[in-house]
Amino acid sequence: MTRLRSVVRGCGSYLPRTVVTNDDLAARVDTSDDWIIQRTGIRQRHIAEADETTSVLGIKAAESALRDADIDPSTIDLVICATSTPDHTFPSTATQIQAGLGIGAGAAFDIQAVCAGFVYAVATADKFLTTGAATRALVVGAETFSRLLDWEDRTTCVLFGDGAGALVLEAQPGEGHSGDRGVLTSQLRADGRHREKLYVDGGPGSTGTTGKLRMVGKEVFRFAVGSVTDVIAQAFAATGTTADDLDWFVPHQANRRIIEASADKLGIAREKVVLTVDRHGNTSAASIPLALDAACRDGRIKRGDLVMIEAIGGGFTWGSALIRW
Ligand code: UT7
Repeated sequence: MTRLRSVVRGCGSYLPRTVVTNDDLAARVDTSDDWIIQRTGIRQRHIAEADETTSVLGIKAAESALRDADIDPSTIDLVICATSTPDHTFPSTATQIQAGLGIGAGAAFDIQAVCAGFVYAVATADKFLTTGAATRALVVGAETFSRLLDWEDRTTCVLFGDGAGALVLEAQPGEGHSGDRGVLTSQLRADGRHREKLYVDGGPGSTGTTGKLRMVGKEVFRFAVGSVTDVIAQAFAATGTTADDLDWFVPHQANRRIIEASADKLGIAREKVVLTVDRHGNTSAASIPLALDAACRDGRIKRGDLVMIEAIGGGFTWGSALIRW
């Protein structure tokens, strides 16, 4: 039975100019290159300069995805930006990206699901495209998490970085089976009872300030490895596929140990795992599109490949999407 699919037309990303190494951080807080590498796999991260706001990063990533797709921005009728670090409380970062690209039509809005934001954004765009509500979507994950960090807190400030990535998705007819190109399934979950484990201690409706990121890392780690794999198993079940069918596993890049433990638990071979956490740190909603773009640029992800994306973020929120490239 034919049905519409959200097919990847282009992929792009952008990283801020400034690179901060573990040794740079060890000069500011009581930490070490060894500790950070052993516990997280992170070697460096990019940090935005004052003139590099989230929308500035998002526009550059979007321009790169539009170039890759070789399409005119005016043909985009949906812009979704996943971010927890908007330039302003409002208007949305998506509208600023839309304006920066010279797009004056269609819909634009932000999605806030923290590190799971990009998976939520892909799932949302897919609903618009496969119901005929939009024809071409720009899905951006863009973050300046450095601005939410308490730079005195060594348990969090060493983990995060800034950046942006984007996909252009287009509605195209498919056959309705797992051989189709496009988003084959998406699985979203949330459980707000876990708020205290990962949150920001401020906001416009409470303190009137932006606040700083707070995390009980061990609890997040346990949940990420213990529970989040449910959405991957559900994606395989929904599409009649297995770990052996996967070409690439592109999870949220928070911690190398979480990624490898999750892959092992699911029977996904280590050589199918795309890792960028060493170079980018945890860039929240930007981490998956940054990793996708890295693997497209170096020739690993190719047209027709089966790619699983998966993430967990504050809330908790988590989800997966299975995409045939
Ligand atoms: O993207 C959203 C999702 N976030 C995540 O997925 C993060 C999940 N959590 C993690 O990745 C890990 O829990 C961390 C990397 C944050 C921490 O690793 P851990 O193995 O859970 O370490 P820990 O928190 O148990 O800390 C071990 C020790 C502690 O010292 P004591 O109590 O054993 O003396 C910490 O105080 O390491 C100490 N420590 C540090 N030492 C040097 C904590 N941070 C640092 C640091 N440098 N930066």
